[in-house]
Formats: sequence, C-alpha cells, structure tokens
Amino acid sequence: MKPELGVCYYPEHWPETQWAEDAERMIAAGLTWVRIGEFAWSRMEPTPGVLQFDWLDRAIETLGSAGLKVVLGTPTATPPRWMLDKHPDMLAVDAQEQPRKFGSRRHYCFSHQGYTDECARIAQIMGERYGQNPHIAAWQIDNEYGCHDTTISYSQAALQAFRRWLAKRYGSIQALNDAWGNVFWAMEYNGFDQIDLPNQTVTEPNPAHVLAFRRFSSDRVAVFNKVQVDVLRPLTDAPLLHNYMGRVLEFDHFEVGKDLDIATWDSYPIGFLSDRLEADDAHKAMFLQQGDPDMQAFHHDLYRSVGRGRWWVMEQQPGPVNWAPYNPAPLPGMVRLWSLEAVAHGAEVVSYFRWRQAPFGQEQMHSGLLTPWGSAAPGLAEARQTADDLAALGDIEPARAQVAILFDYASDWAWNTQPQGAGFDYFRLVFSAYRALRRAGLSVDILSANGTVPEGYALVLAPGLASIGDALQQELSKAKLVILGPRTGAITSEFRIPDQGRPGLSALDCSVDLIETLPPGANRAVQGGGAVAVWAEHLSGSAPDVLSFTNGAAALKGTDGLWYVGGFPDDTLWNRIIDLAARQTGMKLFPMPEGLRRRETATHEVLINYYASPVTWEGAEINGCDVLFRKRNPD
Ligand code: GAL
Repeated sequence: MKPELGVCYYPEHWPETQWAEDAERMIAAGLTWVRIGEFAWSRMEPTPGVLQFDWLDRAIETLGSAGLKVVLGTPTATPPRWMLDKHPDMLAVDAQEQPRKFGSRRHYCFSHQGYTDECARIAQIMGERYGQNPHIAAWQIDNEYGCHDTTISYSQAALQAFRRWLAKRYGSIQALNDAWGNVFWAMEYNGFDQIDLPNQTVTEPNPAHVLAFRRFSSDRVAVFNKVQVDVLRPLTDAPLLHNYMGRVLEFDHFEVGKDLDIATWDSYPIGFLSDRLEADDAHKAMFLQQGDPDMQAFHHDLYRSVGRGRWWVMEQQPGPVNWAPYNPAPLPGMVRLWSLEAVAHGAEVVSYFRWRQAPFGQEQMHSGLLTPWGSAAPGLAEARQTADDLAALGDIEPARAQVAILFDYASDWAWNTQPQGAGFDYFRLVFSAYRALRRAGLSVDILSANGTVPEGYALVLAPGLASIGDALQQELSKAKLVILGPRTGAITSEFRIPDQGRPGLSALDCSVDLIETLPPGANRAVQGGGAVAVWAEHLSGSAPDVLSFTNGAAALKGTDGLWYVGGFPDDTLWNRIIDLAARQTGMKLFPMPEGLRRRETATHEVLINYYASPVTWEGAEINGCDVLFRKRNPD
C-alpha cells in the first residue's frame, strides 16, 4: 500500500475564481485527495425542493481535473434553517427536555423519521448526480456522529421509537419486567406505552433501563447511517466512509462500521491532550505542543479494527485548533510526525483539516494549511515534507500484532450508568492497559468484544469488559494468555449480577467476593511494587496468587492461560503485569522512554519521538518531534 495525503476544503467559502489556484497549490503540496461538501446543504438546496448543484459540479470538475480525488460528503450534519419549518419537531432534546436549537450544527434527532427521509432524499439526489462521476473516489456520510453530545435525545420521536424497540427486544412486558428486575422499588410496567425515557427521574433510574436506552440510542445511529448507505450503494462503486472522533463512545462504532467500507477518524492531538485526557501536570506540560504519545495510536488501532483493516485519518490537526480550553501550536515537525505515525499504523490516507483558515464563523480561530489570506501556514511545508517522505518510503504493509485488547462500547455505557466509584471510567482503564503495552514497545491490535479473536495472539486483555458470553469465552481460548479484570464479566447484558459469579472465570478457581472503590490517594499497595487505585476487588479460590497486596490478599490470580486482576492497576503495576505476561508467553519487550514509541509494520520498525529533544534508543538517534523508519530485523 502507498499511503497518500489529502485536505478538507470548502469551495462554498471562497470565490469561484479561487478554486483552480487552490487546486493547483494542493497538488504542489503533494496532496492527492480533497474532501468537500459535508456542510453545504444550504447552498445545494437554498429553499425546499430548489436544487442548485451547478456550483458543486464546477467545484468537482475544477478539483478533479487538477488531479485530485474527491471525497464527497452528504450534508446531513447541517440541515438548513428551512428544514425546521418543515419538521419543527426534528431537533434533539436534552435531558432537561429542552430542544437543542438551530444556529450551529448537528441539530437533529436520530429518531426523527421525517428528517431521516430528507437525508435519504438528498443522498439520492447526490448519488444520482455524482455516483458515476469519475472524480468522486469516496463518499463520506454525514460528519462526526455523536459530536457535541448528539447521540442521545429525549425527544418524542425518541420516546416512540424506544417503546417500539423495547417491544421488539423483549416481546412481552413481563419479559421486560423480569429482565430489568422491575419488582425493585415497584417499577413494574403493565405495557410498553407506560415506559418513559430514563431522564428527569427523582433519583437514579434503573440501570437496566438506562443501558437499554443507551443501546437503543446507539442503534439509532447505525440505522440512520444505513439509510444513506442503502441509497448510495446502488448508485456508486466508490467506497463509503464516515469520520469518527477521539474518545467518543456513545454509539457502537463497530456496528456503524459494518455497513461502511472504510473507517476514518479526526485526529487533534493537542486539542485532545488538554480537552479529554487524564494525565498529571508534568506529562501535560511535557507534551503540550505534541499531544499524548499514545492517544493517537490508540485510535489508529481502534479504527483499523472498525474499518476491518481499511482506515484513514480524515481530519489531521495542522496547527492550533479553536475548541480546547487552551490551544498551543504544534512544535515544528509534529504535523509531519502525526502523519507518519498514522501511516505506520496502516492509514491509507491522512487528510488535513483544513485547507485555508476561515475568516468567519465559529472556527475562525482554527488554523489551516493556509492563513485566511492565503499565505502558507506552518503546516503546509510539513505536509509537503510528508509527501516527499512517503514517496521515498514506498510501500508500507501493516503487520498483525502479538497482543490485542478487547474494546466494547456497551461496557462504557454500563460503567457510566453505574460507576460505583467516581474515578472508574472504562476508556481510562482500557487506555491505561494500552499505554502499558506501548511502554513495553509492543504493537497492539484492538478487537471488538463482539467479534472473533483470530488465532495466534500471545496475549489478549479484556479489562473492564462488562459481560462475557459463551461465544467470547470460546474465542478467548485461542490466545496463549488472557488477562481479565478488574470488573470483567461483572454483569449480564441486562445489567444484573450473573447467577454463577463471573462467567469468564469458569476455567479458573477464582471468585470476586467483595468490591471496594477508593478515593484519590487511597491506593492498595502490591508486594514488590505498584498498587491498585479507584477500584479494588477481594479475590478468593484455589487458583495461584501471581501477585499479592501488602496485606497478603490476592491481587492477581491465574494459571497458565488465564489471569484475573483484582483492581485498577497504576502504571507501575501494569508494567509488572505486562512483564510477567511476557515471561509467561515468551514475548520480547522493548522498554521505551515516556516520549518514544515503537510500531512494527511488516517491513519496518518505526520509532516515533514525541519528545521535543533527540533521544537515543538501541543504537538509533531520533531527533525531537521526528520519526525513524528502520528496516526490521528478521525475527
Ligand atoms: C471536527 C469537525 C470539523 C471541524 C473540526 C475542528 O470535529 O469534523 O468540521 O469542526 O473538528 O477541529
């Protein structure tokens, strides 16, 4: 595979006389892809039924004839104002029952049938017009599902759809009452039409009710997406894709991904560091202008899985963004580093957001590859350099890792519903395990907990996985060593404590007898180093204690192929666990400094230096904010 570069462009923001020159400059910068159209509905259809596509025809022609492949977006993330006159009840409604008004974007409820039909209609019009256009090389459906907390809506449309969904899932109201345990607090229902959405209750609603609503809300996204997929499929052979986000877990991306050909995601490393990542102040200061060394990689690995091997970065941060609490500039070299890092994880395309900074609207402080007046912003030269690097590198083929982590969106919904301790967060837990593997220099695959586990993994981890069914237990048995815990298998899919303890542990004589959650600082130390924090379990049973707390109680129990961790490990404890696991499975580890990361492709060992200064590692010197591809030694 020969990775390529691209850029997001908004022809409707610029005079038509500018387009040809922009296209030429994109080509000169080494870009071969351009994404357009995803927010342009008010220009495609200024009033209901009045279509104006001539400008888009010309934009596609100008970009395409300059040599760019076009990703065409359906504009359904930004319905025009007139749409609300047609469908006054199409807005999403927040938990306080307030409609989320027009005036920004994503102002729609996924359950609104009238709006969904409008989306099918505009997709049909676009598909008929451009489906066979030789310049259209991919389609993006909508934009960033879930962005701005838009997956969940408490609208009337959602309520009616939820009741239908429940009736289908449970068949009878008695079955629902039994499944949810509604005898508790006399919450039993006599019919599906009595069931409300789980907001505005006096105290917490039944967690089973909330989990069902979260599942339903996730399904709505997949259904909404599928409507446009079904419209476009017969009209085009070009791949269909969507651009997902970083640390957005409100819908099951694997489910949406099943209907698409490629997963793409939007990578804003510096924004993420200050906006959505737990780390101490020293770490945040060290990587202020680089981003966290593992955050991008995690999502690359996740979306490689969502895309069943095919994935891109659709929006790559090119300079300061506008939306984080603080918005420093990337250090020189970082835009190139992020791009090459994505390629090392298997990205087919890395596309920058955006071409020219907008001088108007909400994102006028968001940089692009060009300034608002068209001179080169610092990102442009780095894009050019990256294009040259890619040309020199030639083919890059991804390799299967030896280690995998299971990832499961429903586990996040479950533990959000009932965290039990304030610091317990599913993403944090999984990411802490991922980081530990990367500190050990390992490449990691991320797998859906609802799919198969391919043969050949030395180690598979499933921290915090809420439910484990028989099929998954079977799949896991293919790995040499499986590490479960904490909290793995603690509930059924209906949010009940399983009758027979932890199903995932049937092969191990180990039971979880008691769970404690702990405030910051109240850690439980483990003999030999490390501790658990936030979450601590009391384990018993005849399975050997691999690690013990300083009071002698078991911290990790296990046999040859299956281990259970009784708490949320801190970094030191994770390091020890990975070390022990490597010894047991015969994996070679490559301990890495905090800012240096390692990724294997089929042909290369790629060293990625997030530090601002040079670092020497195993005979290689890597400059600050730089990437080194070195030919892999034959294993
Ligand atoms: C993404 C979005 C873009 C733009 C960008 C700014 O969330 O898809 O449209 O808003 O962020 O960083």
